[in-house]
Amino acid sequence: MIRAFLSLLFLQSLLLIMVTGACIAEEVAESDIYEVTVSLKNGSSATISCFLGDPGTVRKRGATWIFTKYSKTKRALARMGKGGTRRFRRVLRLLKAGKDGCDLEAQAVFDEEGNTTVPGRVILNIPSGIIGNISRGESIADPLCEQCHGVKRNRTYTILESQLPIAPMNFAFSQQEIADIAAYLNRDR
Ligand code: HEC
Repeated sequence: MIRAFLSLLFLQSLLLIMVTGACIAEEVAESDIYEVTVSLKNGSSATISCFLGDPGTVRKRGATWIFTKYSKTKRALARMGKGGTRRFRRVLRLLKAGKDGCDLEAQAVFDEEGNTTVPGRVILNIPSGIIGNISRGESIADPLCEQCHGVKRNRTYTILESQLPIAPMNFAFSQQEIADIAAYLNRDR
């Protein structure tokens, strides 16, 4: 009788984990995930995955990547009560460290080769899956833009995409070329 009750309890909690797990996670593009290393209060360090500034965990399910924010894991664990206490504390630590660590504005916009990083791509509004490059952008923009108004600075992908096709510019650049130009115009960030 007790065993039957216990196994029922087990099944029930398993179901609860599955249900909450399913609704707190979201599907993301792999190219939108970036990782940061943060130091924790207890002196150790941890590598945290970030998505649009939020810290969390990422896993692969089939061909898709699933991201779960720590803030949502924390809430789910809190609902679980005593059973989740230890995990709850750890997630809380990671959440605190990750809030600053994952902050988009705190990340480098370019890597050493002048390619946009994931946060840099997001900051410059470059579409997911495209990487802008400073020197490629330089070789497109320098000879062309000077003809009329000098090479402008700090324009985002979105601005360039909407403005470049307008007369008298009438440019029909590919997404890749616009991303490269955006990288070049923002090379000082
Ligand atoms: C044929 C002349 C011409 C060329 C070449 C040209 N532009 Fe322009 N552009 C203009 C004019 C005219 C405007 C509208 C007035 C202004 O804002 O300077 C403009 C406006 C813009 C704007 C919108 C206004 C702003 O300041 O945000 C952006 C962005 C821009 N140009 C970027 C570029 C880039 C990048 C290049 C090189 C790939 C380029 N332009 C080449 C003539 C040109």
